[in-house]
Amino acid sequence: MKALVTGCAGLIGSSIVERCLDRGWNVVGIDNLSRGTMENMKEFKDNDNFNFFHFHLGLIDVIPGVGQMSFDAVFHMGALVQTKNFYENVEETFKVNVLEAYDLMNWSKKHCTGKFINGSSSEIYGHPQIFPTGEYNDVHFDGRYKTNRWSYALGKLLMEYIYPTAIHMRFGNVYGERDTEEEHVIPKFIKRILRGDELEIDLNEKTTRSFVYAEDCADACIMAYDKGVSGESYNIGGYEEITMFALAKKIGKFANKEVVIGKPFVRDGNPIRRNLDTSKALEHFGWRQKIYLDEGLKRMIEYIKKEMDK
Ligand SMILES: NC(=O)c1ccc[n+]([C@@H]2O[C@H](COP(=O)([O-])OP(=O)(O)OC[C@H]3O[C@@H](n4cnc5c(N)ncnc54)[C@H](O)[C@@H]3O)[C@@H](O)[C@H]2O)c1
Repeated sequence: MKALVTGCAGLIGSSIVERCLDRGWNVVGIDNLSRGTMENMKEFKDNDNFNFFHFHLGLIDVIPGVGQMSFDAVFHMGALVQTKNFYENVEETFKVNVLEAYDLMNWSKKHCTGKFINGSSSEIYGHPQIFPTGEYNDVHFDGRYKTNRWSYALGKLLMEYIYPTAIHMRFGNVYGERDTEEEHVIPKFIKRILRGDELEIDLNEKTTRSFVYAEDCADACIMAYDKGVSGESYNIGGYEEITMFALAKKIGKFANKEVVIGKPFVRDGNPIRRNLDTSKALEHFGWRQKIYLDEGLKRMIEYIKKEMDK
């Protein structure tokens, strides 16, 4: 078996590579290292069955040796992901997540004999109206005069339309040891709480998120490859819904640190709730969340503490 993993140096892609290698598959990984790191690949970069190509994913057809290869599976996780890009870097978000992704998808139609697993997002629901939100529910976006936020979600949704025979994984809020930048809320809260810094926090008691660990997402991708139905979209999210204040308190408790509340965190268009119905993934390929929030947070805190002590 031969798999192509784009975004192989990123949070979810790196865990997918590990799972493919554990199965004895041959893996080609592509990443331009715009966000992912060699450190994220240190466990497997020297594995004889892994070959890394430092390239833009849209250039797949000109990567020497790779452009002509044939694959049994494609896991497409390369993307511009940080939320600030949706607001401040709309053109680049479109370029990577739509134009480059389109080139990769077209190339894959000729070069992949098996399933194409696409990293989509629960952002495509916009402001969901039904909870937990299922794959068949409608999407609700703000207009462009209000916010740039939906530039990412619209691109992700468009790719689902453009490649209707792929399997689209609509991940919720993902976290894990290989993403410790202060861009996403969990690493941001952990780092600030450990340092004793003030937290910019959304204190609206109605604002909730449900978090899913990257390893659970990688498992879901492999399970979808084995048993998922081509052409379907699947929600992959955490079961527990939590307010930002409760999240900060939990981190403070696990880290044994005081939480210092600073100014309110405000972002145009920020959706109030995120809670996904994941029963379709359970029914089609048996996916369940394994790493619950308490365990995931404790793992992240330990990891970030060590990183900060270096
Ligand atoms: N992290 C989340 O909360 C989240 C939530 C929903 C959906 N997703 C989706 O899951 C997938 C994986 O995300 P992740 O969390 O692992 O993000 P990540 O940023 O950790 O990984 C993405 C990787 O893509 C690489 N990359 C970016 N542009 C590239 C390009 N032009 N060419 C080649 N490589 C490029 C980056 O360097 C990075 O390593 C993405 O499609 C993302 O949109 C993520």
